[in-house]
Amino acid sequence: MESFKHGEITEFVQWYDTDGNIINSSDGGVIFAEGKYHWYGQALQAKPMAGKGEGGAATVVGVVMYESEDLLNWKYEGVILPVSVDAKGDLKAPMRLERPKIIYNEKTKQYVMWCHYVAYPGDHGTAPGTAEAGVAVCDKVNGEYKWLGTCRPLDGKFVRDNTLYKCEDGTAYYIYDRHVIENGKEDRCLYAVKLSEDYLSCTDEYARIDAAYWREAPAIVYRKGKYYIVTSDLTGWNFNQAKAFRTDNLMQDWECIGDPCIGDDTKTTFNTQSTYAFKIEGTEDKYIMMFERHNTENFLECSYVWLPVIFNDDETISLEYKKEWFLEEIL
Ligand code: GAL
Repeated sequence: MESFKHGEITEFVQWYDTDGNIINSSDGGVIFAEGKYHWYGQALQAKPMAGKGEGGAATVVGVVMYESEDLLNWKYEGVILPVSVDAKGDLKAPMRLERPKIIYNEKTKQYVMWCHYVAYPGDHGTAPGTAEAGVAVCDKVNGEYKWLGTCRPLDGKFVRDNTLYKCEDGTAYYIYDRHVIENGKEDRCLYAVKLSEDYLSCTDEYARIDAAYWREAPAIVYRKGKYYIVTSDLTGWNFNQAKAFRTDNLMQDWECIGDPCIGDDTKTTFNTQSTYAFKIEGTEDKYIMMFERHNTENFLECSYVWLPVIFNDDETISLEYKKEWFLEEIL
């Protein structure tokens, strides 16, 4: 590819790897490591599993990875966290390792992956194994990650969508949609939990991001002392309006700064949902925010929509839909 191509907001445009195969890397992220960008995500089955709710998305492969030097041409690197129908235990497929995220720990020299673990058929259930955080590690970015198991951070409430965020000083956070059901009442809110020094577990230091009540799909960027999170509403695979939040301290004072999408007349985040954001290597603060246009008829035909993050003078951010754009436009 020479440019990022998205087509009309009603279109599903596929991206292909350098072998000519459709890129199947759902809800993951991009990490720059060992001199290259590595794009990873869950390889979903094309067809949703019938009668299982939540769009029936499932993987029988696991988390896969692609590498690139230019963010446009992606070479398949293989499965970095395999699941299998024959496996026993946590990684028995079909299942979901939703929204996997990877950060590097300088002290332990390990790449650490966290994901939202959903055993199948669990479908965002409440039984053990259907609403957990999962953790895996590897000493190479693109090696086979070792599964360490699952947990429910803090007080053991349900885990839904999640992401990881690593600050410049190396402190890292597990940010997730914590779901509580008590006396028939539901509470869902984004929480930021500080990770242990090795990033392998959650500490008990946390913040409830009150402003991000009933929000999911968090994607975070940082510029000049401000953190920004873009999120979606909670409507499963159906598109909804994005909302962004801002703070100068990850653990407090988050405030809503509204919908960052410019000209999103349908109020559907340009028919996508946020996935992750990463900084272009060698720049101070040029970010690409990754979105996905989910196609629940055929998950292989989801679209990846990657947009540059626009930082405004009033310390807000904006996102503008582009049917096609070239990296040179922002560098
Ligand atoms: C969405 C969520 C996704 C996935 C999906 C269906 O609301 O953001 O991560 O969980 O529902 O299961």
